[in-house]
Amino acid sequence: MRLGVNIDHIATIREARGGLEPEPAFAVLLAESSGADAIVAHLREDRRHINDEDIFILKGVVRTRFNLEMSIAPEIISIACKVKPDQATLVPEKRQELTTEGGLDIVANLDKIRKSVKKLSACGIEVSLFIDPVKAQITAAKKTGARMIELHTGSYANAGTKSEVTKRLNELKSAVNFAKSCRLEVFAGHGLNYNNVTKISTIKGITELNIGHAIISRSVFVGLGKAIKEMRDLIG
Ligand code: PXP
Repeated sequence: MRLGVNIDHIATIREARGGLEPEPAFAVLLAESSGADAIVAHLREDRRHINDEDIFILKGVVRTRFNLEMSIAPEIISIACKVKPDQATLVPEKRQELTTEGGLDIVANLDKIRKSVKKLSACGIEVSLFIDPVKAQITAAKKTGARMIELHTGSYANAGTKSEVTKRLNELKSAVNFAKSCRLEVFAGHGLNYNNVTKISTIKGITELNIGHAIISRSVFVGLGKAIKEMRDLIG
């Protein structure tokens, strides 16, 4: 299973002082030499962590695959088309949220999302859609022309009881099977950590996990390289 490492929170620490350290590009070198298969960064509309300059630098530095998380705001799409990351993952975005809450509602916004997929694809960018593990959203994702989806694992990660965990895992498994039958490549992520990742990494059909907060948090104590290697060992 591939591991995409989200480095947003390297920039969050930098922004706490508004200076130059720590530099997200240094994290890329360390992450890639420690086993990251992709580097993920989210250019949020409020630029609370990663900024425009970062993504141009990341594009030059990433040697694996650069996956830019982004909303479908026209300003952000036009920046993405200039930077040309290898992949764009479209996510819903609200200014007040602490992190991405819920997946894209493609069913309700099919036309807008289809147009965004078309624009990004025309710029040579592969598009993935971040959605909840729900059949109707997967069917709609297929209609946009995107080749990939990322299933939101937040409900699984936040499940408070054993039966809730089982229920959410089963939802994810059925969603993966359904998406595979629609010939979509399936990634997963959000809220995954060193305690809950193993059950997700054993689901057949998921090719990549995207993980940020848990890895960067652990890196404060053990260093980024070790934190990534430990996650790599867990996901196999
Ligand atoms: N995948 C997507 C689409 C996300 O928006 C995020 C959060 O930026 C992640 C994965 C990583 O989530 P976490 O930081 O909880 O590991």
